[in-house]
Amino acid sequence: MSIDVSTRSAGSAAAPTGRSLRGSLRRIAEAAVTPLELDDVLDVFHPLRAGATLRGKVVSVTAETADSATIVIKPGRDWAGHVPGQYLRVGVDVDGVRLWRTYSLTHGPRADRCISITVKAIPDGVVSNHLVRRVRAGQMIHLGQAEGDFVLSTPMPAKLLLVTAGSGITPVIGMLRNLFSRATPFGGDIVLLHSALSRSEVIFGEELREYAAAGKLRLVELHTDTDGMLDVDDLATIVPDLAERTTYACGPVGLLDALEAHHGARELPLHIERFRTATVVTGEGGTVSFAKNGATVVADAATPILDAAEAAGVLMPSGCRMGVCFGCVLPLREGAVRDLRNGQLTVAAPGDGVIIQTCISAAAGACEIDH
Ligand SMILES: Cc1cc2nc3c(=O)[nH]c(=O)nc-3n(C[C@H](O)[C@H](O)[C@H](O)COP(=O)(O)OP(=O)(O)OC[C@H]3O[C@@H](n4cnc5c(N)ncnc54)[C@H](O)[C@@H]3O)c2cc1C
Ligand code: FES
Repeated sequence: MSIDVSTRSAGSAAAPTGRSLRGSLRRIAEAAVTPLELDDVLDVFHPLRAGATLRGKVVSVTAETADSATIVIKPGRDWAGHVPGQYLRVGVDVDGVRLWRTYSLTHGPRADRCISITVKAIPDGVVSNHLVRRVRAGQMIHLGQAEGDFVLSTPMPAKLLLVTAGSGITPVIGMLRNLFSRATPFGGDIVLLHSALSRSEVIFGEELREYAAAGKLRLVELHTDTDGMLDVDDLATIVPDLAERTTYACGPVGLLDALEAHHGARELPLHIERFRTATVVTGEGGTVSFAKNGATVVADAATPILDAAEAAGVLMPSGCRMGVCFGCVLPLREGAVRDLRNGQLTVAAPGDGVIIQTCISAAAGACEIDH
């Protein structure tokens, strides 16, 4: 193959601008790699470059407890940063299928610009077990940009109550690490009330106890196998100045629902991060057919269409899987679906193409989706 790279003589035309030079070089490179796509070739040698689909290289995987691990990731050049408390979407290929889940960012400031997530493997959890037990340093994973509004308000409340349980500590450790490494240390007052099965199950237990020993926060650990679950009616006893605090909470659905009711009744400020949605189940379910894919799936009234479709092997777009990111939206061509969060029905007449979020929608009768 011969490539003509002759340049114009001086004075015959204006010198090429940076952009036109880049364009010319790209055309030359494209010709050189034909019949492959240039971006595919660059992906192999420089997957983290600016302009590439956002990915990250796993730098390390470190066990935190028996079933959780912190994964440090070097993100692609286009990573736009985050505010502590936010999450990102992570995509991994498991048995040849790309699956996306959402994880809170747990790192503090890092000179190497790496980011971290901390994942707790849940029983039968496809992605969490893959990340905790099988992912290794050097592997590439897909990333989304940081999202979410579970962040400390500005100006910071002078008195904070952080209520966390299990892996719900993850967005909060990100906040604490950043807060405690500021040039001007946070002068406020923090109480952290954390529940875990036992002392050894407390993710970041050692670090949290060090913060407490250094007087940076007051730590109240509840080990539920001996102490029982947190009863929100005990909050005023555990934290006598509760009414003066702004609460940030992350944990299981039951705890967050109870806190919402408790704080709502007393008009206390509360910010919540949910890892799962509370669901309302009504009706009978139905068949879901996928117009382009050709598959038809039987889905009950309690199962999100996204889960039912994936279980049947249909490749679906997805993200947070809890109605937040809109990464799963598809047009409902015909039929009815019910919103699992509130029971609300959405109906599409033939040809309507009503957009639905498949992660929080269950079939309410036969329906057809444009996918
Ligand atoms: C905003 C946000 C932030 C999150 N941050 C973190 C984090 O920092 N660390 C972390 O470990 N997880 C976090 N999660 C949860 C995470 O996204 C996944 O839901 C979780 O890892 C389970 O995925 P899986 O593929 O292993 O389970 P799946 O294979 O999807 O599900 C397996 C089974 O577990 C149930 N299940 C699904 N999710 C949960 C859950 N969260 N708790 C209990 N049962 C569940 C399913 O109904 C199913 O029965 C976050 C979720 C959201 C929405
Ligand atoms: S996957 Fe995020 S809204 Fe459905």
